[in-house]
Amino acid sequence: MSEPQPIFLSDYRPPAYRVTRTELTFDLDPHATRVKARLHIERHPEHEAGTPLELDGERLVLKRIAIDGQPLEPDEYQVGEAGLVVHRVPKAFLLDTEVEIAPDGNTALSGLYRSSGMFCTQCEAEGFRRITFYPDRPDVMASFSTTVIGDAEREPVLLSNGNPVERGELPGERHFVTWEDPHPKPSYLFALVAGDLRKVEDAFTTMSGRDVTLQIWVEEENLDKTEHAMASLKRAMRWDEQTYGREYDLDLFMIVAVNDFNMGAMENKGLNIFNSAAVLTHPRTATDAAFQRVEGIVAHEYFHNWSGNRVTCRDWFQLSLKEGFTVFRDQCFSADINSAPVKRIEDVAFFRTAQFAEDAGPTAHPVRPDHYIEIGNFYTLTIYEKGAEIVRMLSNLVGKEAFRRGSDLYFERFDGQAVTIEDFVGCMAEASGQDFEQFMRWYSQAGTPQIDAHGEYDYANAEYRLILRQRTPATPGQPEKQALHIPVRLGLVGTKSGRDLPLTLEGETLGTDTVIHLREEEQEFLFTEVSEAPVPSLLRGFSAPVKLHFPYSREDLAFLQAHDTDGFNRWDAGQRLSLLALDDLIAAHRNGVEKVMDPRVVEAFRVLLEAQPDDKAILAQMLTLPSEAYIAEQQPLVDVDAIHAARTFVRQGLALALRDDFLRIYRENQDDAPYAPEPEQIARRSLKNVALAYLMAIEDEDAVQLAREQFEADHNMTDVRHALTLLVHSSRSDIADPALKTFGETWAHDPLVMDQWFAIQVTRPQPDVLDRVRFLMAHPAFSLKNPNKVRALIGTFANQNPVNFHRADGAGYRLLADTVIELNRLNPEIAARLVTPLTHWARFDEDRQALMKGELERIRAEKLSPNVYELVEKALA
Ligand code: PHE
Ligand code: ZN
Repeated sequence: MSEPQPIFLSDYRPPAYRVTRTELTFDLDPHATRVKARLHIERHPEHEAGTPLELDGERLVLKRIAIDGQPLEPDEYQVGEAGLVVHRVPKAFLLDTEVEIAPDGNTALSGLYRSSGMFCTQCEAEGFRRITFYPDRPDVMASFSTTVIGDAEREPVLLSNGNPVERGELPGERHFVTWEDPHPKPSYLFALVAGDLRKVEDAFTTMSGRDVTLQIWVEEENLDKTEHAMASLKRAMRWDEQTYGREYDLDLFMIVAVNDFNMGAMENKGLNIFNSAAVLTHPRTATDAAFQRVEGIVAHEYFHNWSGNRVTCRDWFQLSLKEGFTVFRDQCFSADINSAPVKRIEDVAFFRTAQFAEDAGPTAHPVRPDHYIEIGNFYTLTIYEKGAEIVRMLSNLVGKEAFRRGSDLYFERFDGQAVTIEDFVGCMAEASGQDFEQFMRWYSQAGTPQIDAHGEYDYANAEYRLILRQRTPATPGQPEKQALHIPVRLGLVGTKSGRDLPLTLEGETLGTDTVIHLREEEQEFLFTEVSEAPVPSLLRGFSAPVKLHFPYSREDLAFLQAHDTDGFNRWDAGQRLSLLALDDLIAAHRNGVEKVMDPRVVEAFRVLLEAQPDDKAILAQMLTLPSEAYIAEQQPLVDVDAIHAARTFVRQGLALALRDDFLRIYRENQDDAPYAPEPEQIARRSLKNVALAYLMAIEDEDAVQLAREQFEADHNMTDVRHALTLLVHSSRSDIADPALKTFGETWAHDPLVMDQWFAIQVTRPQPDVLDRVRFLMAHPAFSLKNPNKVRALIGTFANQNPVNFHRADGAGYRLLADTVIELNRLNPEIAARLVTPLTHWARFDEDRQALMKGELERIRAEKLSPNVYELVEKALA
């Protein structure tokens, strides 16, 4: 067998043949579904007669093939592992094929598969080729008609894209529905669902007065978990009208919840398919975080109707065209309807931990990659989140109004087309008159740029000189980097007044908050008329996805935490202050020196706790220490034990020093009101629960009782899960064990709650956890075939329990590698995602490096899917 080969952006050629219309008939059967396809095909005028017709196809058994009604002779075509070639075809013709596929055996969850007894599809990126022979590429767009034939009893509900146009009975207790989708679409947006589903229905009137029916389809037992998704959908539809002028374009919009799904959700035209975890909520089963995630994902998929579906990607290298833009859109939506600063803090905290790590590792790639082996490996934080940061920078650079003009232009000019990132940025350039030539490097250069900044205040001349230097580290395949255009939003906060000072730069007055443009490798900015010594507040709102170093003293940081007018930077100053203290403690731990708590950190927390908070959600964020993963991200060499010990020490130190404040905060924010996923309530809960977590860090006897009461009160899942987690992660197994048991028994019937039950247990910091992981893998509620279960148990263990995953004896690595090897056969996409923690071996000490590489090599010795192959090769390169 030859090694999988990469494909290159530079090899892109427009298709020789296009499909203008696709007519499909599915005769559903779990083991042997028949798919008939009638394709209306035309040769592109630029291609000569005699150009063979090449169609993608995998795991299809061809039963019949005909052109314009004439069956083909065996020597007129050829079927291979990857598809079908017809040697000679007319200029325009009808191609009829019939194939057989086996949904039941499809454990990869790509193409047509079964989940909890229902049929469903996943076609992005290249799943449609597992359904029928087709030019399975996004630049081939056709209108679709789909007839679904199913068993009247087993599949009373038969869904596909568009509007239902015909239905009827068939012999043998069968029935059918025909769907017509008038909007030309690429094959990756095709969807089919068939099963015994129930619906919740609502309606939406669009801005031009059209009525749209909204449906959410679920298994019967989940009918009471759809309210929040429906409300979120309606809010998203309104928001997209108001913010982008985008109206929905069909009479029907459907969401279906499925239990087995590789990703969060999928934007298929008119028929979004969701991982049940990304759509179902109930106060008793879902946490605040889950409610907010559902809101964001429902909006994200809905927004794709324009940014992705009406205007789609020319090829998969352009993936961030739809994903980066749509993530930016969903982030703005969530910011608008919740707390904007908190949303930004959460997004950036996640981004700087996970995307920075990706960008610094062996799989680092540009937001627009120039080659890949398996596109399924490129649904990454870089494509999604860094792509969104780039769109955010664009939006800030051109300003709100020009951005809207640019997006209007983009949607109008390219409606119904498959386009590139240049097309998008070109519209922004046209609408704003700005030049983005240098800016485009953000799309082609991998790696996180680092800015080293320093400043000097000249008292005599009332000047502040700020010097910025940028450098992007080498990444695989990109040893040299060019300077980027980096927008740095800033203010100068006067140390006397505690206020933002008016800014004058090169004679221009700029208000108290402005953006400077770093374009050179090194640049100096001279602010004049600076009446007092300032502390600079740099990169406000995280104005660019970079690492910023400035030699702040701890006093500077405490000052910024108290005075910065930018909520994000106020939070960030606190994080930086904690990181400095944590650094000392990590060093002390490594050197075997006694740890001492920095009184400045205690003081900063005391100030926070004792002020009247105007925003409780922000306060909760400010009271949260950087995660172990983010601390690790700052260290030259990751020492998981030292990091864990240092962070635990700070938590305990704060709890001891500020016990009464935490207790008071807990009590003040207790609330018996009926649960609502609303910002005000969520803020109170998060503040209360942060306080409880500090108290549990010292296992304060009052706190243990409060945690127990909070668990037993059973008021909502946020509180229950938090209390249970604190108990399970404490040494109080006398309370934790029975509580876990009760929880597990109460929710044995609910897979989404059982996922949480798994996650709570495998994040336990105690050293016995690996046995628990193994034990839980044998639990009847666990299954390697269900991606949510794999993520909840194995993924959570490997990614969120650093001290135990990185056990010095390598047992954590071994367990992960064993799982990857098994999953490689079942579900390559999930297997590849799971390998990630092992690929970061270079960040650890030599012994761990050897153990991690050993496991990667053990994986490499297997017969690998292209997905796992690509990752392991990069990791060992
Ligand atoms: N396109 C989906 C989204 O971001 C994600 C997805 C990719 C889902 C591939 C399934 C498979 O909204
Ligand atoms: Zn998306």
